Amino acid sequence: METVIELRSVQRSFVTEPDLADRIASMFGAKSSAGTLRAVDGVDLAIAEGEVVGLVGESGCGKSTLGRIVAGILPQDTGDVLFKGRPMVDKTRCKDGSGLGVQMIFQNPASALDPRQKIIDAITEAPIAHGLIKRSEARDFAIRALERVGMREDALDRYPHQFSGGQRQRVCIARALAVNPSVVVCDEAVASLDVSIQAQIINLFLDLKEELNLSYLFISHDISIVEHVSDRIAVMYLGQIVELAPTRELLENPQHPYTRALLAEVPSLDARLSEEHALTGELPSPLNPPAGCRFHTRCPIATETCRSDMPRLELLNGGHQVRCPVVQTKK
Ligand SMILES: Nc1ncnc2c1ncn2[C@@H]1O[C@H](COP(=O)(O)OP(=O)(O)O)[C@@H](O)[C@H]1O
Ligand SMILES: [Mg+2]
Repeated sequence: METVIELRSVQRSFVTEPDLADRIASMFGAKSSAGTLRAVDGVDLAIAEGEVVGLVGESGCGKSTLGRIVAGILPQDTGDVLFKGRPMVDKTRCKDGSGLGVQMIFQNPASALDPRQKIIDAITEAPIAHGLIKRSEARDFAIRALERVGMREDALDRYPHQFSGGQRQRVCIARALAVNPSVVVCDEAVASLDVSIQAQIINLFLDLKEELNLSYLFISHDISIVEHVSDRIAVMYLGQIVELAPTRELLENPQHPYTRALLAEVPSLDARLSEEHALTGELPSPLNPPAGCRFHTRCPIATETCRSDMPRLELLNGGHQVRCPVVQTKK
């Protein structure tokens, strides 16, 4: 299978300004929480044509930052992002449509849509601006785009607030697909929806993937959502991928202690894991991550080396990669 998206050693930091509480605290000698925060720290990842890669990890581990880099709406500081083998153009500055190949769906469809824009305009604005369709074709185009996501023509002249959350997310999906992307980044795309609606939208994503041969980077903090859609799952911790494997392999044979801890929190999965591997301790601040292995402060099997040496993501077998020297040497 052809690779559509490839990330090579991608890094992205944010400089955080001290807030009032920080400044007061530092007057009293406390360590400020302001500084440079590495949200994405050396990520390598390739997504194939028609493939769904799930990305999981606790809140703040860098999933959205990585998703926005893949979607070309946030530039990386260092490293390469290749779309079909070519460096991705920064879409925020690109007017020729060359950055349209990757689109993004966000968690909150209400804020993703302009409340004053009719559905027809939300869907046809980008394809008209990029010369993919003529203004005179807009109505027919929008009808087809809505049908594809299971909505009817009568939605065209209405406004976002007139729809439910699930329908608004369908509109966002129709809008994203209107520019014929190859890849869609879904960032917590069903997290704001009722459980009954979540399944419908997930099924829609799967149907559209088959119909249009799309690739997805499917981001969720909830591994039980990701497992239904993903061919492979990547587990992220403090800006790094710590494990990446085909979905079944990851669920049935998790290797990294962090993955095992995450899976132990999913009630439907192996109950033995929950005894053995419950996650302890606080998530360290990404402003001041632990030296060596980022996970060693919470790891039940950490050795002395783990406190000083940063492990690499190594291939075990069958496309299973893990960033843990302890389980690597056991294999
Ligand atoms: N624009 C920003 N400015 C400063 N810090 C940010 C910004 N965006 C994200 N961060 C920080 O980067 C880290 C990763 O955030 P994010 O990618 O949103 O994680 P996730 O999606 O996994 O919850 C967090 O510590 C977050 O506070
Ligand atoms: Mg996020």
